[in-house]
Amino acid sequence: MIVSPSILSADFSKLGEEIRAVVKAGADWIHIDVMDGHFVPNITIGPCVVKSIRRYASIPFDVHLMISEPEKHFMEFVKAGADYITVHAEASHSLWRLLEEIGEHCKAGVAVNPATPLSSVEHLMDKLDILLIMTVEPGFGGQKFIEEMLGKIEEAKKMIDGRDIYLAVDGGVNAENIKHLRERGVDVVVAGSYIFKSERYEEAIQKLKEG
Ligand code: DX5
Ligand code: ZN
Repeated sequence: MIVSPSILSADFSKLGEEIRAVVKAGADWIHIDVMDGHFVPNITIGPCVVKSIRRYASIPFDVHLMISEPEKHFMEFVKAGADYITVHAEASHSLWRLLEEIGEHCKAGVAVNPATPLSSVEHLMDKLDILLIMTVEPGFGGQKFIEEMLGKIEEAKKMIDGRDIYLAVDGGVNAENIKHLRERGVDVVVAGSYIFKSERYEEAIQKLKEG
């Protein structure tokens, strides 16, 4: 299991140190939640922050764009040092072209909100490096995992059908529900509050890795 701690729940006043701490604790990727106050109600960080924290870790930066018109902005995140860029199926009217463009510069992912059917992305499968299933409504850390998404995760695994695509899950992941994700063949888990609100990052990350 690839564990991608979401820095949304980190202490922003010492972001660099927090990143070093999760890297030391065994994080595989760093998940960066970009929110614009439009696609989602919250506003978080932009490319200048991504650029400034890049030097704190050499592991992949997994940038999750929860923004409207991602086609206008993704390139700034490429330049800031993103290794993976995931955009929302609901945020773009030209996903096909957008994923092609992202794929020319880094790894490309698509995310689907809880109410968005997988059929909206099934024709894009050959363009993807990541298929990200949202198990909360995007916008905030610390929300409860939506159990009903387990069926969708199974469906997503079938849709990937052996392709070289990571099946990723984001939202409310913790030591209790991790076993359900492992059983369903999830490759990547994003976890924010479970890791950053724990006393010992290493123990929390290890629990997710082992299921
Ligand atoms: C939600 C974000 C998630 C969030 C996860 O909009 O995309 O990455 O930070 O946080 P937890 O693990 O606390 O649900
Ligand atoms: Zn996220």
